[in-house]
Amino acid sequence: MRLGGLALLAALAGCEKAAPPALLRPDDPQVVAQGAAIYAARCASCHGARLEGQPNWRERDASGRLPAPPHDASGHTWHHPDQVLFDITKYGVAQAAHLPDYVTAMPKYEGVLADAEIVAVLSWIKAQWPAKIRAQQDEVTRQHTK
Ligand code: HEC
Repeated sequence: MRLGGLALLAALAGCEKAAPPALLRPDDPQVVAQGAAIYAARCASCHGARLEGQPNWRERDASGRLPAPPHDASGHTWHHPDQVLFDITKYGVAQAAHLPDYVTAMPKYEGVLADAEIVAVLSWIKAQWPAKIRAQQDEVTRQHTK
């Protein structure tokens, strides 16, 4: 009887872990509107007002830094799960990619933007993607959080 209860609890805990809520909220108009304003103020200068990124974004400059990549369907932002996008933005590329010596022009926003603001700006970016790209990134996120 007791063992049965424990097994049930374990099963429930496992269940919860298998289906965490998605971090980004591209279908919440309030979150997306907040994200649009944050993007324009904080991200557009590098990633472009229309998410187009900087020219020749795949080529490192003389100092070894990459230009800012596009956040639209032509870039690789959507190849990453929600949590990784959050970690890149909050803690920086080096920490998110586990490459402590990685040199990059991408700032970290820990202490600059609140967690909810980071979620908002990434939700706005996601809301701009075509349905097919959004669905693919949903799947990447599902695989990552399984
Ligand atoms: C000073 C320029 C600059 C600003 C401002 C900036 N970024 Fe970046 N960002 C970059 C660069 C450069 C990279 C490429 C990083 C690398 O791999 O070296 C990047 C990469 C990223 C990536 C990873 C994309 C991928 O495909 O791997 C995300 C996510 C990101 N930025 C989000 C943001 C958000 C959100 C903001 C605003 C809150 C922002 N960035 C502001 C320069 C910038």
